[in-house]
Amino acid sequence: MFLLAAALLMQPAAEPPTDWDKEFGVEEKVRDPVTGEMPVDPYVQSNANAGAAPFSGGAMATAFGGQEGIRRIANRTVELSEADPRIAEIFKAHDMVRLKRTLFEQFCYILNAGCDYSGRDMATSHKDMGVRMRDMNALVENLQTAMREENVAFAAQNRFLAKLAPMSRDVVTR
Ligand code: HEM
Repeated sequence: MFLLAAALLMQPAAEPPTDWDKEFGVEEKVRDPVTGEMPVDPYVQSNANAGAAPFSGGAMATAFGGQEGIRRIANRTVELSEADPRIAEIFKAHDMVRLKRTLFEQFCYILNAGCDYSGRDMATSHKDMGVRMRDMNALVENLQTAMREENVAFAAQNRFLAKLAPMSRDVVTR
């Protein structure tokens, strides 16, 4: 009995539990207080990242209602997609504030409505997202709805979609 008690007393004190957060570090990303956007890893900004050459002349910009119309179309496309049960899951946990801004800039740049594109290239933006062709089609459908709501002429809609279509090579990964 005495030996057992002595043995117990000689046990080293239990180690305090490891604080794994401290051990590995916890990445705490905070939204920019001004823009409301989450930070992203550094990359080189270039209009070439937009993935398509812009239209020339002002006809397409006018057909889309200028920057105001383009902004509504970009925002609406994102909002419809976030609420679309076919693809909503892909948008969860991504920064929709940033996506609305960069999608607007991309559309505005391609439509030659007076913007530069400051976002990442299409391959980098959609890496590891597992987008399938059917997801791409769902997003295009939402964009079509947004363009229709803004009364963009059908021919202009199709000219724009033809610019975006080749991007599926970089966006669709499975
Ligand atoms: C031609 C088709 C598409 C275009 C033009 C496009 C355009 C863009 C742009 C401009 C960005 C932002 C890049 C940046 O943050 O620097 C982006 C990011 C994103 N896209 Fe797309 N996209 C397309 C297809 C899709 C599809 C089909 C999905 C899913 C169904 C999708 C989901 C997303 C998501 C979730 C992000 C946020 C990525 C992040 O926060 O890191 N995109 N896309």
